[in-house]
Amino acid sequence: MKAVLSNVNLINRQDELANEFYSHIDDLMEHPLVLKMDDYSQHLNTSRLQHSLNVAYYSFLFARKLKLNVRDAVRGALLHDLFLYEWRTEQPVEGNHVLVHPIQALQNARKVTEVTWVMEDVIASHMWPVGNVKPKTSEGWLIQMMDKLCAVMEIGVQSSKKVERYNFAPILLGLLFYIN
Ligand SMILES: [Fe+2]
Ligand SMILES: [Fe+2]
Repeated sequence: MKAVLSNVNLINRQDELANEFYSHIDDLMEHPLVLKMDDYSQHLNTSRLQHSLNVAYYSFLFARKLKLNVRDAVRGALLHDLFLYEWRTEQPVEGNHVLVHPIQALQNARKVTEVTWVMEDVIASHMWPVGNVKPKTSEGWLIQMMDKLCAVMEIGVQSSKKVERYNFAPILLGLLFYIN
């Protein structure tokens, strides 16, 4: 239970930061629909649940720093890709995957928890600018950026150790400088 390129054990109850993060999502992490995301691949060997946790954790760090609505940012981030099919081989819903999966995620999120206006914006707009829904909230802008950053980190760390070591050093240094 660690976010990509992070050493923080998210279920370590002795860790204050991990505790704070997990307090926002503990109910969601027990829900079968959320846990089911672990059955689907998102980027290479990164499951959809791991990707969602990655986005939620980095969104948490930045939302705290920027004094945004941390809880809604984290919960929206965890649920932003809550669609339950292999998008590369299946398309149970008609339409372009880029456009329809945020709608699917939003519908499923409503089965899991109460979805606030901020969470709705986070989920609906996370594909911006590829998708056609522009974020309306600061949290929406943050998560669409964290989604892309995490995708790059997930693919990068699995593609090559050299890529991890060299290409990600500036990103990591920037992140550490900002969130510390
Ligand atoms: Fe997505
Ligand atoms: Fe995503």
